[in-house]
Amino acid sequence: MNTTALNGQIVPTLCNYEIKHDRLKKWVQEVAALCKPDSVYFCDGSEQENQRLLEEMVAQGRLIRLNPEKRPNSYLARSDASDVARVEDRTFVCTTRQTDAGPNNNWMDPEQMKATLKRLFEGSMRGRTMYVVPFSMGPIGSPLSHIGIEITDSPYVVVSMRIMTRMGKEVVNALGYNGNFVPCLHSVGAPLAPGQKDVAWPCNAETKYIVHFPETREIWSYGSGYGGNALLGKKCFALRIASHMAREEGWLAEHMLILGIESPEGKKAYMAAAFPSACGKTNLAMLIPPPALKNWRVTTIGDDIAWIKPGHDGKFYAINPEAGYFGVAPGTSYKTNPNAMATISENCIFTNVAMTLDGDVWWEGMTDEKPAQLIDWQGQPWTPASSRPAAHPNARFTVPVKQCPSLDPDWDKTEGVPISAFIFGGRRRKAVPLVVESFNWNFGVYMAATMGSETTAAASGQIGQVRRDPMAMLPFCGYHMGAYFGHWLSMGRKSQKPPRVFCVNWFLTDEHGKFIWPGFGENMRILKWIFERVHSRTEAMQSPLGWMPHYEDIDWSGLNGITDEVWQRLTQIDAAAWHEELELHAELFDKLKDQLPRMFALKRELLRLSLSVNHKP
Ligand code: OXD
Ligand code: MN
Repeated sequence: MNTTALNGQIVPTLCNYEIKHDRLKKWVQEVAALCKPDSVYFCDGSEQENQRLLEEMVAQGRLIRLNPEKRPNSYLARSDASDVARVEDRTFVCTTRQTDAGPNNNWMDPEQMKATLKRLFEGSMRGRTMYVVPFSMGPIGSPLSHIGIEITDSPYVVVSMRIMTRMGKEVVNALGYNGNFVPCLHSVGAPLAPGQKDVAWPCNAETKYIVHFPETREIWSYGSGYGGNALLGKKCFALRIASHMAREEGWLAEHMLILGIESPEGKKAYMAAAFPSACGKTNLAMLIPPPALKNWRVTTIGDDIAWIKPGHDGKFYAINPEAGYFGVAPGTSYKTNPNAMATISENCIFTNVAMTLDGDVWWEGMTDEKPAQLIDWQGQPWTPASSRPAAHPNARFTVPVKQCPSLDPDWDKTEGVPISAFIFGGRRRKAVPLVVESFNWNFGVYMAATMGSETTAAASGQIGQVRRDPMAMLPFCGYHMGAYFGHWLSMGRKSQKPPRVFCVNWFLTDEHGKFIWPGFGENMRILKWIFERVHSRTEAMQSPLGWMPHYEDIDWSGLNGITDEVWQRLTQIDAAAWHEELELHAELFDKLKDQLPRMFALKRELLRLSLSVNHKP
């Protein structure tokens, strides 16, 4: 045990490895002086440390150990009822000029915000241990990776970051004397007075701030212990700060899964796909083809975030910066995603799911039949007659990617994998057809930029309203969305072979509100068409929105029910609905007008004309 003098105070500090990086040591001391924890602990990332923290949390009532026979080495956390999702209205991007944060972000002057935060963080860790968590987003040492250091007073965050990132002393070694890191400061905002008993899920029910300073590449998060608010490597670093870095440095940080497709002849293609939160990204990333297409294989690289950099050969190379999945549990089942179910069979932290009487987990949609009795996500007895859900709709599992049966052998490759196609999808009941390939890069960027989607529980707990969600990045773009579109256009100009761009919509419904497309594993048929287009083999028909498959271009083997007539509904482009869409595009452009690429107005006009020509009554 070292004892470090900090501004006249003595804060006991434990670190079992050498740190050569003076700036890191200084920052930790400054934070300790501000937050006044009882002690400081530098995490080494070892299994021993992990087990000790888990045991401590079980002893303190912060975690429940699940039945080791059913769910080995797995735990359940129940959050405070006020702390169950990302808090977009409390999330800020603080740039010197407000216009640089854009209308897509809450903004405050950086100096003013720092002053507010310093007041909040002052003494915020009293009575707690302050953990220093070194982590790498991406394989340690990869030219595509970046390092962060999270300081947190939540041991739940520590054990979760160990799953979600490459975490531990190797990262500090990689930093050496002088390497760059993104400082990520987190406090649950619940200091303890001497003798005060802690609660199972400390947080600050009144005050939350999730703040990004892109110009100085810093993150400060206060008041929440949940998900993207607290595991700062994920949305805060890997998307909001990284999107800003990517623009400055000429790469892309995207809200995208990455999957590989292998044909029966052994040909391979990688695709990156953007969908808004809780639209089934994890399901698509882990898709198992239907029996008739069993010679095709889908492999998983990532389910949420992609960092993509142009290689010397003009192709785009992608890594998954994460090392774990933080997946939405409700709806996950052996029917919808058997790979995910296998992945979470052990070594898993569940949050806000229900517990069975024999110490296992359950959530809505896991089984057809509901268990007769459960303990709900708030620890209350529950039966199928209860009027409330047993698991919170945004309940999560946190699990290492290595446990995924469909994990791609190259998931950890330092140079990343070459991306042949970008897929953009939203949750739309109408208007947007099942699949369309853009005529070219620029039009693809336009289509992705104007996509809309119905909102889901991850953001607000409210389901069903349509909002424009450009590239599924609305809550995650760390700068002006108009400038972000410009950056995408410029990435195409810089590359000799930019990936092809596709838009999909799995969520079309009929007049009774029933899904028309079966989705899940059957999406393989569409991925197969995309694969074939990428390898320039298949025919396609031209539409005002781009290239679409003819009915006979899709492999229908083993699937009944999608008749020619149903196919017409899945691929129809309703000119009236699209003219309404174009009005909404104009509304979006108006909001972003001070930094919108000029080409977008032109593209909109072209689309309007081509819809009128193609769909004359
Ligand atoms: C997520 C989200 O948790 O997008 O991945 O909200
Ligand atoms: Mn996400």
